[in-house]
Amino acid sequence: MTHVVTEQCVHCKFAECVTYCPVACFREADTFLVIDPRECIDCGNCVEACPADAIYPEDELPEELAAALEWNARLADRLPLATSAVAPLAGGEQWNGRPGKWLSLPPEQAPRVPRTVESGSART
Ligand code: F3S
Repeated sequence: MTHVVTEQCVHCKFAECVTYCPVACFREADTFLVIDPRECIDCGNCVEACPADAIYPEDELPEELAAALEWNARLADRLPLATSAVAPLAGGEQWNGRPGKWLSLPPEQAPRVPRTVESGSART
């Protein structure tokens, strides 16, 4: 199993998760992080650390966010390692909780099965 970063990280990138991760599993894009499923040890520290509630254990991933599994694995292959020196995005708080953030990504960074804006992404 792995833990999975989802859409709510996009444009927030608060970077708290990296400081609580005991292994090197986070990879960094310009506006978000993903988890390398080959490195994740399922400690779960990052779930509580994320102010955007963006991270789920694989087996608790909501159906509307299922594309995140492939998204994390694919992008982890091509992105550089994120270190504890990752800087939070300026203005990230303004994006926190907004729906449809995956749709704002360029095609090469988007999930293969983009979710719709209408399906929502907020944790209830
Ligand atoms: Fe993203 Fe949350 Fe980490 S917003 S960078 S998964 S703390």
